Amino acid sequence: MKDSLKKIYQIIDDLSSSNTLKKYRVVSSSQGSWLIVDDKKVLNLCSNNYLGLAADDKIRQASIDAINKYGVGTGAVRALSGNSFLHEELEKALAKFKNVEAVMLTNSGFVANLIAVQTLVDKEDIVISDELNHASIIDAIKLSQVQTKFIYPHNDLRGLEEKLQEAKVLQKEKRSDGTDKIILIITDGVFSMDGDLAPLPGIVKLAKKYGAVTMVDDAHGEGVVGKGGRGIVDHYNLHGQVDIEVGTLSKAFGVLGGCIAGNRKLIEFYKQKARPFSFSTGLSIPDTAALLESVKILSNSPSLVENLWENAAYLKAGFQKLGFDTGHSETPITPVMIGDEIIAKTLSANLFEEGVFATPIVFPMVPKGKARIRVMPSSSHTKKDLNFGLEKFSIVGKKMGLISR
Ligand SMILES: Cc1ncc(COP(=O)(O)O)c(C=O)c1O
Repeated sequence: MKDSLKKIYQIIDDLSSSNTLKKYRVVSSSQGSWLIVDDKKVLNLCSNNYLGLAADDKIRQASIDAINKYGVGTGAVRALSGNSFLHEELEKALAKFKNVEAVMLTNSGFVANLIAVQTLVDKEDIVISDELNHASIIDAIKLSQVQTKFIYPHNDLRGLEEKLQEAKVLQKEKRSDGTDKIILIITDGVFSMDGDLAPLPGIVKLAKKYGAVTMVDDAHGEGVVGKGGRGIVDHYNLHGQVDIEVGTLSKAFGVLGGCIAGNRKLIEFYKQKARPFSFSTGLSIPDTAALLESVKILSNSPSLVENLWENAAYLKAGFQKLGFDTGHSETPITPVMIGDEIIAKTLSANLFEEGVFATPIVFPMVPKGKARIRVMPSSSHTKKDLNFGLEKFSIVGKKMGLISR
C-alpha cells in the first residue's frame, strides 16, 4: 500500500465501521412509477423523472431510429468531427422552447454550471451566491478561482443587497486588464432539497440597480414550472432579463445532459471558450435524439405538467393529513421533514421493506439536524400509486412513533 493513500483508505474504513458508508441500491427495471430495486418491486417516490419521460415509448423509438441511422458515438469533440446535426437541432429546439436567442448543450447539468461560471469569471471578478445553491455551483465557483465571493442568506433579498453594496465598492477598482470586474449573482431557480423558489423578480431588480449579471440554475424548474414547463424565467415572466439560464436534461426531460441558455453572443462566447465543451466529446446520438423527442413531447403536451402538479398537491395534502411536516415547498418536491439522520434512514429502510422506495436526504446534502425523506411525485403516478405510498408512510410512521393519526 502506498503510504500517501493510507489516509484515503482510512476514510473508507471509518465509514464502514460507523455504518455510514453510502449503499447504492441496484435498479433492474426501466424507470417508471414502479421499479425493481435490489430484486424487489417497489413504488418509486424518489426519482427526478418528473414527467415520466425516461422510459417513454416515443422517446425510446426516437433513440432506436437514430442509432439505426447514425450509430451511437459522435467520434470527437464538437469542434472537430463530432458536431452532429442532431446537436444543432436540439439546441434550436431548446432555444425555441425556452424562448431565448441561443442554447448550448453540455454533457450534464453539473458541467453546465461549471462552464457557466468558470468560463465567465476569474480571480479578479466577484461572485454572489445563495447559501443553499447546488453543489455544482459551489464547485464551479471554486474552479473559477474567484477571490471575492459572497454568500447571502437563503432567498434573502436584503442580504443580497448588502453584498451587492460591498461588491459595488470593490468594483471601483478595475481588473488588471483595465476592464470592469463582473459581479455575478447566482441562484438555483427551484431549490432541490426544499422545493422553494428563488425570488427571481427581486434578484433581477437588484441586479439592474447594481449592474450585476444574473445566473439561474433551473435544473428542477424546467419541465415543472412556467407555462407548459418552460421554467422559472417563464414562471415569473422575466424573458430576456436573466443573463444566464442553466438547465439539466436529466430530470423532467428524462435523458442526460445539460444546457446553457442566453443571448446569442454570450452563448457563442461559451462555445468558443468553455474548456469542458472544447475538450470533451458531446452527447451521444441516442441521448440527443431522445432529447429532441422529449422537447417535442413537452412542447405539445401541457397535460403532463398539469398531472405532475395535481399529483404533487394530492401527495402533499395526504402527508399533511397524516401529520407529517412537508416544509415550505412551492413545487412538486415534497420533503417529509424528519430532523434526525438515523430516524430518516430507518424510516427509509422500513418503507423499502413495505414496498416504497423513498431515499433519505442527510448531511452534507442538507444541514445536520435537517434530515428528510424527499418524496418526488411524477406525472406518471396514478392515484392508486400515491394512495399506496401514503398508506405505507402512515403504517411505518405510526410504528416509529413519528405520527399518531
Ligand atoms: C439544482 C441542480 N443543479 C444541477 C444538477 C446537476 O444536474 P445533472 O444531474 O444533469 O448533472 C442537479 C442534479 O442533481 C441539481 O439538482
